[in-house]
Amino acid sequence: MRTQVGIVGSGPAGLLLSHLLAQQGIESVMVEDRSREYVEARVRAGVLEHGAVKTLTDAGLGERLHREGSRHDGIYLQFPGERHRLDFPDLCGESVWVYGQTELTRDLFVSRLAHGQQIYFEASDVHIVDADSDQPRITFIDSDGHAQVIECDYVAGCDGFHGVSRATIPESIRTVRERHYPFAWLGILAQVAPSTDELIYAWHPDGFALHSMRSDTVSRLYLQVELDDDIANWSDDRIWDNLATRFALDGWSLESGPTLEKGITPMRSYVSAPMRWGRLFLAGDASHIVPPTGAKGLNLAIADVRRLAEAMGHAVLHGSDDLLNRYSDDALQRVWQSTYFSWWMTSMLHTPAANDPDADFLRQMQITQLRYVTGSRAAMETVAENYTGKSMDGIEGLLAR
Ligand code: FAD
Ligand code: DHB
Repeated sequence: MRTQVGIVGSGPAGLLLSHLLAQQGIESVMVEDRSREYVEARVRAGVLEHGAVKTLTDAGLGERLHREGSRHDGIYLQFPGERHRLDFPDLCGESVWVYGQTELTRDLFVSRLAHGQQIYFEASDVHIVDADSDQPRITFIDSDGHAQVIECDYVAGCDGFHGVSRATIPESIRTVRERHYPFAWLGILAQVAPSTDELIYAWHPDGFALHSMRSDTVSRLYLQVELDDDIANWSDDRIWDNLATRFALDGWSLESGPTLEKGITPMRSYVSAPMRWGRLFLAGDASHIVPPTGAKGLNLAIADVRRLAEAMGHAVLHGSDDLLNRYSDDALQRVWQSTYFSWWMTSMLHTPAANDPDADFLRQMQITQLRYVTGSRAAMETVAENYTGKSMDGIEGLLAR
């Protein structure tokens, strides 16, 4: 089998890449190690930067997003006794959208399959071979047990953090910079109307909490928990009690409801560079991970893919490798900006581990920082620009191109 671009992984990065390539008349084949149902059901991100929404809308993928998603013009930052709103349009002229990654993935699958996209689901033993030659290949065993080989002009590694693409790049030419955080997030999806109109990011001595949502009837909430905590330790009652304590505010109450899904995710910052080796190009979580506090992971995947699709288009349609040659350096600028903001938000909002000898001092620093960030217009503008992605679009000039 032969194709122009072989794509490993059909998460949001791989699916959107195949869509943007197809729009330029470039053919691709995707190889995914899970089933479509599994990929669609994976509950993760919820917040899209305005630039990500523009990318999706320009690509003809915005119809349901605009109908069922909701524009959010701000967030609340809370610490005990105080809840402050940051008004994004006022502070930086932009907004964000709340639209579940599950919905975006579904939209992408529907559109890709309607356009005849070839996707091998439930592939095993996936390998990228000869990526540094002119004839890279993807080899795998398909769901019927047959060995397959896809010869490609280019390979896109969109297989997330645990995929095979990043590991294909020799360790001798990769630099990894990372940070592990001494806590994790417990996330729930609950069948209950959100108790808030906009997201609440709450600092509390017991740990961080986040109130997000998916629709008028479904809420998404997170709790900071111990790194090695087990979801079996968290009954629904215990989760709701902790959420109610951490979000407590006079005159406001948290509605609880049945949980539809719950799980614990560790948190890390991780960047592997370069994002290219020969004819293999990495995009999304395959190359970098941010802690979820800044809501940046999916947005970064979308930004990478938009850039990669444009660069591949230039190479295939105009015979120019200029943008492909710049892809890694250009993409990494935004990656580091998002990595910085996610680390900054995470450090400000998560209470230090109980055994940290500096815990008391650090908590006081966090409260002081939160007072500044909610009191100074300059500081609020900084949060607004970063959260909406405006600062990142500015740095890389993505929207201007
Ligand atoms: P993935 O979604 O991981 O997709 C990779 C695909 O490759 C998967 O389908 C996988 O099955 C497949 N694959 C893996 N290995 C192989 C293999 N060997 N062969 C073939 N296929 C393979 N981001 C935000 O922007 N905003 C948020 O609000 C936000 N909240 C989050 C909350 C949580 C709890 C978590 C966990 C993440 C959150 N993120 C958020 C991050 C976001 O979900 C990810 O950054 C995003 O899924 C990255 O997309 P991707 O396509 O690069 O990777
Ligand atoms: C969601 C996740 C995040 O990490 C975040 O910062 C905001 C919202 C969510 O799942 O809705």
